[in-house]
Amino acid sequence: MTDSSQPTNAKITVGDSELELKTWPASIGSPAVDISKLLATHGVVTYDPGFANTASTRTAITYVDGAKGTLRHRGYSIEDLAEHCTFLEVAYLLLYGDLPNRAECDEWTNSIKMHTLLSEEMKRFFDAFPRSAHPMAILSSATNAISAFYEAYYDPKSEDAIKESTNRLIAKMPTIAAWAYKKSISQPYIYPRNNLTYVENFLNMMFGLPVEESEVDPLIVKALNVLLILHADHGQNQSTATVRFVGSSHANLFASVSAGMNALWGPLHGGANQAVVEMLSSIHDDPAMTVDKAVARAKDPDDEFRLMGFGHRVYKNFDPRALILRSFADDVLAKMDRDDPLLDIAKQLAVVAREDDYFVSRNLYPNVDFYSGIIFRALGFPTRMFTVLFAIGRLPGWIANWIEMHDDPATRIGRPRQVYEGIVTRDFKPIEER
Ligand code: SDX
Repeated sequence: MTDSSQPTNAKITVGDSELELKTWPASIGSPAVDISKLLATHGVVTYDPGFANTASTRTAITYVDGAKGTLRHRGYSIEDLAEHCTFLEVAYLLLYGDLPNRAECDEWTNSIKMHTLLSEEMKRFFDAFPRSAHPMAILSSATNAISAFYEAYYDPKSEDAIKESTNRLIAKMPTIAAWAYKKSISQPYIYPRNNLTYVENFLNMMFGLPVEESEVDPLIVKALNVLLILHADHGQNQSTATVRFVGSSHANLFASVSAGMNALWGPLHGGANQAVVEMLSSIHDDPAMTVDKAVARAKDPDDEFRLMGFGHRVYKNFDPRALILRSFADDVLAKMDRDDPLLDIAKQLAVVAREDDYFVSRNLYPNVDFYSGIIFRALGFPTRMFTVLFAIGRLPGWIANWIEMHDDPATRIGRPRQVYEGIVTRDFKPIEER
């Protein structure tokens, strides 16, 4: 079903010749003009830094409407999924196209439970890191490292290999994340337990101790399920595009996901949740830094300071995830009988910025990272674990996109063109003459 109001053809004039271009209709949102024959027929390429106007793929997984601030996964609204589902249900939806029925959900949950352990040799891998290692450095390298145990599952064209790799990555990511945290605090690694749910298991491995039975707070379990769902997928964001790009060379799924983790780590992307809390803390701790001064610095073109957690390549309205998280933060802090001055500062910052023409004229709104860190903090996670939590959430989205890329007959190895502006040619001079 496509939107009938969309154009069915396009023309461009290159020099003296006019070029008819095919269009790809969308079921909703922007259709595409197909330029795949442009270089061959007219000897020119298009230039689009950051690919802000360029679709790298056609997809049926996630739809983001930046103008309206809506987000849907396989047609389901993020609000419905966050309210009614577990994270594993949403992971199944992204990977297999619809929400599981009871039997499918039980089979899916059990197939994940069977693979939560890491090979014992991996303990030496964690031991090799300094305690001060950033957990994202451990997460991305451990994700690549575990591929050494699964060479049988490298083939990107084998359905069985993809299923085995998918189950192991989703099952083992909480174990890797929790062990990276335990390493940083010199505590013993806690093994996964099959009698716990996916999120209970992760929380137990994170905060449990081998010397006592620990109860996992159902409120924290529910909150973390919502947070992981809100991070599960988001169209062709930079880390997802990276996973697709790396996978297009037929690199295995572990290597492709590891590359996506490294892309996510950047403070302009998933690393922003850590940067937001550091920014809010600097406003809270430094009397010289106020909300007004932070906004003024963010507007100053000569100051590199940016309002972290603000702005988005696609959303030119409120990020629906930020709206859910803003009220969710109040709810979680109230239920945990906690208050966090950083939340008050965040709310003040959002009001001041949204009243300032610099932000209004550029359609800069709070994004998913603006409030998520405050909730992660309230749940007991250290700041440097926030992007790791984002990665655990985004993992099914990365894998679903990687699979869709391999299933698409139009897929070719990603290899962009360039506009060369350098010196055209020079005669070689031996070093004595330079
Ligand atoms: C995520 O793509 C996704 O879907 C990502 C994500 C996902 O789920 O995968 O939603 C997750 O990564 C959210 C974004 C987290 N990053 C941050 O919060 C970092 C702060 N935000 C910015 O760095 C920026 O807004 C980006 C990176 C998010 C978007 O960058 P764009 O689209 O390239 O926009 P831009 O940098 O060209 O900004 C346009 C204008 C510029 O000013 P002018 O040159 O027009 O004068 O807005 C300004 C920017 O200087 N601007 C900001 C700002 N963000 C943009 N000014 C101050 N503070 C900011 N945060």
